[in-house]
Amino acid sequence: MPATNIEDLIALCKRRGFIFQSSEIYGGTQGLYDYGPLGVELKNNIKNSWWRSVVYERDDVEGLDAAILTKQSVLKYSGHEETFTDPLVDCKSCGERFRADQVPDYCRKEDLTEPRQFNLMFKTNIGPVDDGKTFAYLRPETAQQIFTNFKNVVDSTSRNVPFGIAQIGKAFRNEITLKSFIFRVREFEQMELEFFVVPGTDEDWHKKWVELRINWWEKQGVPKKSLELYEVPKDELAHYSKATVDIMYKFPHGVEELEGIANRTDFDLGSHSKNQDELNLKSKVSENNESNAKLALKDENNNWMVPFVIEPSAGVERAILAILNEAYHLEKIEDKERIVLKLKPHLSPIKAAIIPLKKNDEKIVAKAKEIKNKLQSLGLGRVLFENSGNIGKNYRRHDEIGTPICITIDFETLEEETVTVRDRDTMSQKRVSITDLEEVFKDLF
Ligand code: GAP
Repeated sequence: MPATNIEDLIALCKRRGFIFQSSEIYGGTQGLYDYGPLGVELKNNIKNSWWRSVVYERDDVEGLDAAILTKQSVLKYSGHEETFTDPLVDCKSCGERFRADQVPDYCRKEDLTEPRQFNLMFKTNIGPVDDGKTFAYLRPETAQQIFTNFKNVVDSTSRNVPFGIAQIGKAFRNEITLKSFIFRVREFEQMELEFFVVPGTDEDWHKKWVELRINWWEKQGVPKKSLELYEVPKDELAHYSKATVDIMYKFPHGVEELEGIANRTDFDLGSHSKNQDELNLKSKVSENNESNAKLALKDENNNWMVPFVIEPSAGVERAILAILNEAYHLEKIEDKERIVLKLKPHLSPIKAAIIPLKKNDEKIVAKAKEIKNKLQSLGLGRVLFENSGNIGKNYRRHDEIGTPICITIDFETLEEETVTVRDRDTMSQKRVSITDLEEVFKDLF
């Protein structure tokens, strides 16, 4: 059973070193979090799993890692300068600011100002002169630089539709209302794919990507029964979207968006193109006199064709929250409670803990290190040489952080070349010969 409340997860994250409030020693900054020794591993494992599934296991997707600081023109023609806003109200009695549609119950809502539009993009200065003109935005989504690099990727890889460009990276939004731990924050990461298709095939591809993404979530330990699909109503669609399906998850605070899958039509490539009237665009775009490229392909009749875009876009923070929530289990064993994170092994921050039973026995410690190095060299993730605490405490700690197996080295190991392997979920222990250990370890993944 998943965690029942967010406080359990927050406490675990802090206690075991997954997630900390940013700048905590100075009182913290709202909406910003730092990822500790285990958090960084979990995050990397989630991102690697997404990259494997979206790039390596397909033959029609290329990767990209673009700059975060983004030229104003990009976010002007993308429509973000004009439309990436939330309605903001001030309460004259409590002195706080809220998103107009998210005024909390503690505010009496008697003395609110009229809503005014507040742009969520962060700005920063470029270069040493702060003249208000040479600024850049911190990108609010990773998608835009995928569109601006469309021609570069096509020219350098000879790709033709259907194909995609994937990117994982930071995005920044000056959110007015933060929510539920890492659910809505001001600095976060997105895993985004822009999949370019022939206009007319877009609706089929949209359905296919919704299906593929649900399958991926299931493989990360987020079962179908915890997910719901939400077809965003026409009047709530983003300015670029013809249709959006949100994958919703039962977070501890309620059912909310985990990932959005949008049909962005030819809006973005069209918006960032010059000579738009030659491109046979289906969507309405603003005239662009600044771009020096046509982000389009030639069809079989030598006419310009601007691909439609299907965009699965998932937040890494929301992935962490959903995956931790599903993995968290509180079990009662003979009057004692144990917390166990039943993470899928490919996501576990530590893949195996190697525990010498006697911390001060040179031969046992040397053997434990040898086994650690051998399993580490397989390249399946972090293997930890655990040289502190007693065995019971080690097991409890590794249950709580989701380590799939603990391997104990004892005197028998020295005599018989065997170790004890303890399974996190069943707590069962078996004796395994060192020669078979590599296979037992590999079989986890
Ligand atoms: N390129 C499309 C796009 O950015 P979005 O629905 O605004 O669409 C996509 O964001 C995903 O990014 C969301 O489904 C969510 O997982 C994540 N996300 C968006 N805003 C976030 C925030 N303030 N904090 C954490 N994650 C966020």
